[in-house]
Amino acid sequence: MRQISKPPAGNRPLKTLERVLSKAGVGSRTEARKWVTAGRVKVNGRIVKDPDTWVDLERDKVFFDGKPLEKQEPVYLLLYKPTGYLTTYDDPQGRPTIYDLLPDRDRYLFSVGRLDLDTSGLLILTNDTAFAERVTNPDFKVPKTYLVKASKHLTDADLDRLRHGLELRDGPTRPAVVERIRESGGKSVFEITITEGRNRQVRRMVEALDAKVLKLVRVAIGSIRIGALAIGKTRELTADERRALSGASEGQRLGGTNDDR
Ligand code: URA
Repeated sequence: MRQISKPPAGNRPLKTLERVLSKAGVGSRTEARKWVTAGRVKVNGRIVKDPDTWVDLERDKVFFDGKPLEKQEPVYLLLYKPTGYLTTYDDPQGRPTIYDLLPDRDRYLFSVGRLDLDTSGLLILTNDTAFAERVTNPDFKVPKTYLVKASKHLTDADLDRLRHGLELRDGPTRPAVVERIRESGGKSVFEITITEGRNRQVRRMVEALDAKVLKLVRVAIGSIRIGALAIGKTRELTADERRALSGASEGQRLGGTNDDR
């Protein structure tokens, strides 16, 4: 154990105590810091209160509340989020969160990206930070497909604007794949596949066409579709799905849902 602020040179597998705890599924990094500071963590038999302490997992023995830290198996859950649930762990106003839908609320998983309160559809929850980074980093261009119901009829020219990319206040959007599904009572229903995940991006793209989004469902992440997953339920990702997502690249065109279109 080395109480210094920069990792020492060498090839030892060093991580800060904060990171070791959060990776072990004990809690978020913020929570882990609190617990270390509160004296709940021992390294090699001694209480360590500095969460930035470097530890060597192959040599140092870390205990949390008197129990040895066990390496947590990676978990990859797919959730079909209903509307009305926040993508946060805790809400000061006590509104429902996606964690209320998880089979084991205690287990520390974080969501890979977010969906708005009023958006339903696929959300991945994991404890694998590298995987999450891969799926959310716009450089990897993992496509996300949304089913959209707009508040008015959108012309072919409107849909072309979505396809080619339009100007939003945080810059132009990347080209998107857009497919008209149907017209319903003077309102257009279409699917859009984008490779970015900016805040409220699909809603803002539709607003740029002077329309509003009446309904938004994320129907696919990479090659993973909602399929038979029931709303509000989870299932584990298969190894193939995980592999496909880790290697997903631009150009995939995905979609399809048994959702209530
Ligand atoms: N785009 C949005 O506008 N909202 C979401 O929840 C996801 C994508």
